Amino acid sequence: MKKRILTGIKPTGYAHLGNYFGAIKPAIELSQSAEFEYFYFIADNHALTTLKSAEEMKEYSYNIACTWLACGLDPNKVVFYRQTDVPEIFHLNWILSNVTPKGLMNRAHAYKAKVEENIANGVDVDSGVNMGLYNYPILMSADILLFDANLVPVGLDQKQHIEIARDIAESFNKKYGKTFVMPEEYIEKDTCTLVGLDGRKMSKSYNNQIQLFTDEKTLQKSINKIITDSRLPGEPKDPDCTLATLYKIFASDEDYQKYVNDLKTGMGWGDAKKELFRVVNAKLSPMRDKFNYYMSHKEEVDEILRTGAEKARKVALQTYEKVLKNIGVK
Ligand code: ADP
Ligand code: TRP
Repeated sequence: MKKRILTGIKPTGYAHLGNYFGAIKPAIELSQSAEFEYFYFIADNHALTTLKSAEEMKEYSYNIACTWLACGLDPNKVVFYRQTDVPEIFHLNWILSNVTPKGLMNRAHAYKAKVEENIANGVDVDSGVNMGLYNYPILMSADILLFDANLVPVGLDQKQHIEIARDIAESFNKKYGKTFVMPEEYIEKDTCTLVGLDGRKMSKSYNNQIQLFTDEKTLQKSINKIITDSRLPGEPKDPDCTLATLYKIFASDEDYQKYVNDLKTGMGWGDAKKELFRVVNAKLSPMRDKFNYYMSHKEEVDEILRTGAEKARKVALQTYEKVLKNIGVK
């Protein structure tokens, strides 16, 4: 049997360049090989911990779905689905809750960070914590374990969640007999962490992102907002800057060397931004066309996700039936 690779992205905002280079592009490249089976999904229920409205859920879910498709996900090679369309995940979430020690959740980093922040601010430790955030690692374990996933491509920040999934799988297997496969995290070594407009990690939480698919004007505006120092045209610039870091990702080695040299010999920030826009736009243009196509043909996207969900459920039901039998309800 082929080994399985599974990953999900939460629709909590518009996809940005960091999501593309750090998660989407590597996952799509991975799916080119026939060595594995691939399960990629929109983690819509995970997004509920932060989303503010139904409109946001709709908007961001389509944005992420169309982004995957525009970036080259092939639904014939990858089982591509919405988490919500596989209801067995949510029942498994409940079942797994009963073999999960509360202490394990107390140590999960997102919850722990929130508690520490509350303590530092002198407010109640659980202020602003909903049970979705607290239980998040159990739902993520259900996503993974229901599909017998062997490898889970994630960013470094998600490593702990995969360790938790293994802990939960072990507790269950110990109590009810071997049921789940032990998943491993798959963290690509040379995956880059992209910097944002302010030089910190590009992230929706810092509001410093460059959206992957917007119109050219907005893209240009975002690039113009990248923070630089106040050196004037003609003055030598430090090539260790956000502009050059982003340029390197989009340009050929040769063009990058020229860019660095031009900065050192006095290229103005305005021209440097124009040149960065040129290479970014050249790379994104064809994908943007595809993105816009899917955004205006949402019925096609729904159909792709529906077909994906059918395939996903078939696979999920095998483990699900085994779980129900092992816990004694079937
Ligand atoms: P955000 O920080 O914007 O909320 P998410 O946490 O939703 O992003 O991340 C979704 C995926 O994109 C994860 O796999 C994460 O590792 C990756 N990712 C997010 N930001 C970056 C970045 N700046 N550089 C590289 N990868 C990133
Ligand atoms: N928690 C992941 C993130 O924040 C998203 C996610 C949800 C996920 N379920 C998953 C990733 C299962 C991999 C496997 O990025």
